[in-house]
Amino acid sequence: MLVVMKRDQEEIGRHAARFVASAIRAKASLTLGLATGNTMVGVYRELVRLHREEHLDFSRVTTFNLDEYLGLSPTHPESFQHVMQENFFSHVNINPRNIHIPDGTMSGDYEQYCAAYEQAIRDAGGIDLQILGIGRNGHIGFNEPTSSIGSRTRIKVLSSQTIEDNRKLFAAGEEIPQCAITMGIGTILEAGRILLLASGETKAVAVAKSIEGPITSAVTASALQLHPNVTFILDEAAASALTQREYYARVLEMTALLTPSRLG
Ligand code: F6R
Repeated sequence: MLVVMKRDQEEIGRHAARFVASAIRAKASLTLGLATGNTMVGVYRELVRLHREEHLDFSRVTTFNLDEYLGLSPTHPESFQHVMQENFFSHVNINPRNIHIPDGTMSGDYEQYCAAYEQAIRDAGGIDLQILGIGRNGHIGFNEPTSSIGSRTRIKVLSSQTIEDNRKLFAAGEEIPQCAITMGIGTILEAGRILLLASGETKAVAVAKSIEGPITSAVTASALQLHPNVTFILDEAAASALTQREYYARVLEMTALLTPSRLG
């Protein structure tokens, strides 16, 4: 596990985007797992800039988003489908056929729908690089506390804390989604490489528990300790509750000397 510490949210966005860009330059047909949320906005801004100014080519890239709110139509301003189009997809040369986001309006056999999402990931050869944010409660995707570490794509009931965190995004009086379709922890752990980004003091405790605490379904990001190729990209505030910051910095220095390809 590598821990990269940067000054602020803007720097973590730029760092993560550079990491993604070098993965695409190494493999043009990269399968990329994507997240949404405030932390990701800077990543997509920088990827769009790299496309416009440095010809980063998305034409053969395939994407799978982690999650979508159940019940929101793709045109709802807070649907992840809409957010992804606005922030990223409509600004780069990705083939729309290669974009996959769970459909929040689907109805009928949810289990079959989620199994088909998993199958589509397998058909694409698996996710090469997965980007994650983290919730205040330590969730990744919408794998809320007590989610099985072996979980696959499924419907997940959102925790009260997540619903509260989302309230500010929705108009007053508007119904806030109670459920989401999300990749599972087991799905995420099958990605070849994982980047987790966190910014701000409100994430500090969840980040520290994920990196330095026990592996527990109470903090689902702690399951990333089971993965052999994870990089946490943190700003100073998000890293502030870690007890071994000096060690992580030395690990990075040695990694740059010995195995630089791990740095992206
Ligand atoms: C969204 C997702 C969530 C967010 C997390 C952090 O696709 O998977 O796990 O990454 O809730 O959200 P922000 O960045 O808004 O704090």
